[in-house]
Amino acid sequence: MKILITGAGGQLGRALQGALKSHTLMALEHAGLDITELSNVRRAVADHHPDVVINAAAYNNVDAAESDQENAYRLNALGPRNLALATAERGIIFLHVSTDYVFDGTSRHPYHEFHCPNPLSVYGCSKLAGEHAVAALNRRHYVIRTAWLYNDIGPNFPNRMLEQRDRPAVKVVSDQFGSPTYAPHLAEAIGKVIETGAYGTYHMAGRGGTSIYGWTRALFHLCNVDTALLPVATAEFPRPAIRPRYSVLTTLQDPKVLLPPWEEGLEEFARNRTNT
Ligand SMILES: NC(=O)c1ccc[n+]([C@@H]2O[C@H](COP(=O)([O-])OP(=O)(O)OC[C@H]3O[C@@H](n4cnc5c(N)ncnc54)[C@H](OP(=O)(O)O)[C@@H]3O)[C@@H](O)[C@H]2O)c1
Repeated sequence: MKILITGAGGQLGRALQGALKSHTLMALEHAGLDITELSNVRRAVADHHPDVVINAAAYNNVDAAESDQENAYRLNALGPRNLALATAERGIIFLHVSTDYVFDGTSRHPYHEFHCPNPLSVYGCSKLAGEHAVAALNRRHYVIRTAWLYNDIGPNFPNRMLEQRDRPAVKVVSDQFGSPTYAPHLAEAIGKVIETGAYGTYHMAGRGGTSIYGWTRALFHLCNVDTALLPVATAEFPRPAIRPRYSVLTTLQDPKVLLPPWEEGLEEFARNRTNT
């Protein structure tokens, strides 16, 4: 298949380029295509004639979005709207990536695809608006909700925590639960789902769930970090955006497109650090 990737320079964009090597790829970074400009999006889709477009571009700074609403909506809602429109006009399949932050976290059971979203933050609202635009404009769409995403390189939670390794102790939030997702595992699963033709919404995250504290404890154990971890409540770290307390994802979709357990992603991440 010919696959065009937007936001190709980000964590997922880079993982997709690795996982989808057997396809003909057109990987466009931000400088190559700004998805918020409809005319540019239409031109790129017309010039490249892909079979599938995958959007890995997003406004991901959850806290900054609270005071920068217009840009968050531009990138997370207008951008996917443009891509859905341009792909639908040419009968092209469109895969868009969304987030667990569309949920409010009041559930005590993992969220599946048909649970009612109720975002708490501007970021979550803007991503949900993007989902709605995609579903309304291109019938041949996949919306993939993922969570707590990280890759080997990049500004992400595990890498930030490992930068603390020389400190005697760090405080980590223990009352937020989610599904840590290793970007290469997500990219492989996306490679499988685009072959199915079973359009719709998918939850694709590291299987199982843990707290931020549990994630960090496993990370430090795998990377032989001695820094002590002090579990603390979210209230100790006030931030501009409210996060769901519990956003573990599960799926009612075909188990063939499930990701491995979150622990396996972290093991692979730790192995790659040791080998580099
Ligand atoms: N990261 C997470 O924890 C997380 C959690 C749940 C869901 N997700 C979702 O997963 C997807 C991938 O996230 P990620 O972590 O891979 O994101 P990322 O690393 O932040 O990458 C996003 C990419 O989008 C590009 N971009 C920014 N503005 C753009 C524009 N106007 N047009 C085209 N490209 C633009 C950025 O390029 P520049 O840097 O050059 O501007 C960057 O390369 C997103 O949909 C995100 O919402 C992420």
